[in-house]
Amino acid sequence: MQKITFMNFKGGVGKTTSVCTMAEMLGQVGYNVLIIDLDPQSNTSRVFGIQDDIEELNYEHLFLEKQNSKAEIERFILSTEYKNVYMLPSSESLCDIIYKIYDKTKEPVNNTDERPELIFEKNLRLIENDFDYIFLDTSPFKTYLSYCSILASDKVVTPISLDNFSYEGVHKLINLIVDLNMQFQKNVEFGGVFLTKVKSKSSNLYTEMNSSYEQELDEAFIPIAIRDLIAVAEANTVFQPLFSYNKKCAALNDYIELMNYLDMLDNKHYKLLKKLLVGKSTTKKQK
Ligand SMILES: Nc1ncnc2c1ncn2[C@@H]1O[C@H](COP(=O)(O)OP(=O)(O)O)[C@@H](O)[C@H]1O
Ligand SMILES: [Mg+2]
Repeated sequence: MQKITFMNFKGGVGKTTSVCTMAEMLGQVGYNVLIIDLDPQSNTSRVFGIQDDIEELNYEHLFLEKQNSKAEIERFILSTEYKNVYMLPSSESLCDIIYKIYDKTKEPVNNTDERPELIFEKNLRLIENDFDYIFLDTSPFKTYLSYCSILASDKVVTPISLDNFSYEGVHKLINLIVDLNMQFQKNVEFGGVFLTKVKSKSSNLYTEMNSSYEQELDEAFIPIAIRDLIAVAEANTVFQPLFSYNKKCAALNDYIELMNYLDMLDNKHYKLLKKLLVGKSTTKKQK
């Protein structure tokens, strides 16, 4: 089981696209995936067919009150029409919870373990073993929800769009993770940065960006890029995950390589996924 937060304090870099595309493909080959949509814009929830009629979802219950039984969390998890993909959807009321968590941080606690930033992490632990992957999609704003999301994860992965890069943003995020780990005695890993919306892998811009990112970030740079393709934008426009929208889209292959690089797929599932794509080879690439 792995819990991964997709985070970048910039919008439009491919967080939602990455979460939706990888979750759908992992579900297709038999992994159980839970997506937690922590962006009040709810794009991810909409892609998986969850509409705005989810009033009953009580975020206070998840973020402010420590629960004791699995059933208390399970009742908020919705199944989707996509195989093995489950969802803890977002709604506009997520915005209110940010202030409520903030208010709660002002109350004195006896020890770090009781801090409100850790309640969500503890609640998530109750159900985590029912899933192979838990993906947390986040908003571009740094808030108490970002802290809760990081602290509830094993690692944070950062998509960066080629036309909107900044080392500064990445370093700030890495520093935030280091700070939170120290403050809360956690061990959340920074899983790395990957480039999205790459128009051409043979362009000068891409080659230059690739090598300067590699130099600057070293191991934190993931050498797998996601191509900029019209089918991806189209799928997002009609709120459909990419794999079911168009199995021929080469960006699917990029995402499979990314998951392989991040050790999210064993060889059997890697091959299975490659076979599901239309017109793709099935040989495993060396890292
Ligand atoms: N590989 C891609 N090719 C083409 N368009 C993309 C790609 N990835 C993302 N997009 C488009 O970029 C925009 C932002 O993507 P999104 O995943 O919503 O970013 P974020 O969640 O970081 O705000 C969307 O309109 C989406 O369709
Ligand atoms: Mg998004």
